[in-house]
Amino acid sequence: MDSSKRRKILEKRKKIHDLIKRASSRTDPLSPFDSFRRYTKNDLSVCLEPGRGDRLSSSLKQHIRKLLKKNMEGFYGSDWPLQAKVKRKEMCSADARYIFVRELRYGEAYGASTRRICEEGCNEIAGFAHYRFTLEEEIPVLYVYEIQLESRIQGKGLGEFLMQLIELIASKNQMSAIVLTVQTSNALAMTFYMSKLGYRISSISPSKANFPTFSAKYEILCKTFDSEAKSVLETTPCLVIPYSYNTDADEDFGSSDGSSNFKPRDGRNLKCEVILCCLEHHSENPTSGFPPAETIRGQL
Ligand SMILES: CC(C)(COP(=O)(O)OP(=O)(O)OC[C@H]1O[C@@H](n2cnc3c(N)ncnc32)[C@H](O)[C@@H]1OP(=O)(O)O)[C@@H](O)C(=O)NCCC(=O)NCCS
Repeated sequence: MDSSKRRKILEKRKKIHDLIKRASSRTDPLSPFDSFRRYTKNDLSVCLEPGRGDRLSSSLKQHIRKLLKKNMEGFYGSDWPLQAKVKRKEMCSADARYIFVRELRYGEAYGASTRRICEEGCNEIAGFAHYRFTLEEEIPVLYVYEIQLESRIQGKGLGEFLMQLIELIASKNQMSAIVLTVQTSNALAMTFYMSKLGYRISSISPSKANFPTFSAKYEILCKTFDSEAKSVLETTPCLVIPYSYNTDADEDFGSSDGSSNFKPRDGRNLKCEVILCCLEHHSENPTSGFPPAETIRGQL
């Protein structure tokens, strides 16, 4: 690689790292979105406030652990003890950013600013979102680690409101996508993200990436904000089958239905775009409808 190309790559990488650092160092990421500090709808009155993983009080940690267990243990099944350990560590990380949901003790009785309401009039925490600014496949993303609401406040529009706020925070901080992980057994959450909020299964999700023998218990979902993030995180991976007009690709490599299922000889079932490309490309080539390998490599 020539030095100017390398310099450009390094500059781009530094720019992205600076973006993430700047986004993570904001003390109050909610400040540009004051109208989102309060949610009063469907018999629910809550306020939202920011937090950090390395500044959680021990009672708050305990509260978060309890809520996680209550909401998630069933979805993880026998994996829960291990997951609980992982989550316990993740939640205190210095990179962890929070939006806490506090139920208002006296509801509408407080007419002061949302800030004051949060400081004076809030009761117990009834939910939270844990997110981070990070890199995914070299793309700057806001990764939603958790969004957890107490069951009594679920289904009242607050989850959608929180995700709207998270999307605003992501784009204000110039992140290129939102990424999150959902247990496939959590059907309501899958519907919430995919049908209600328009998230898509990412190309880096186990079900889309080339790990067909590994039956994944989770999906990675994403919403992208620019074309680069879209091409990296959303586009289905391509499998390029070198095709020689002297040979038969199906014979050599396996068989394909030409769309998303390719079955190599080893019995795997790969989910990907299958592109046949010619090793030799000239006018007399009977397979010249397919572009030459170099063209396709250049496009990937
Ligand atoms: C998933 C969750 C954050 C959604 O927030 P919410 O405030 O309940 O959702 P909203 O009210 O904004 O949206 C409701 C939609 O989400 C889905 N949904 C998900 N969980 C739901 C629940 N427990 N009750 C009702 N709807 C739920 C439904 O598709 C519903 O669609 P509808 O409005 O057309 O009926 C919240 O239910 C929750 O904390 N669940 C438990 C923990 C969890 O599963 N977290 C996600 C882990 S990735």
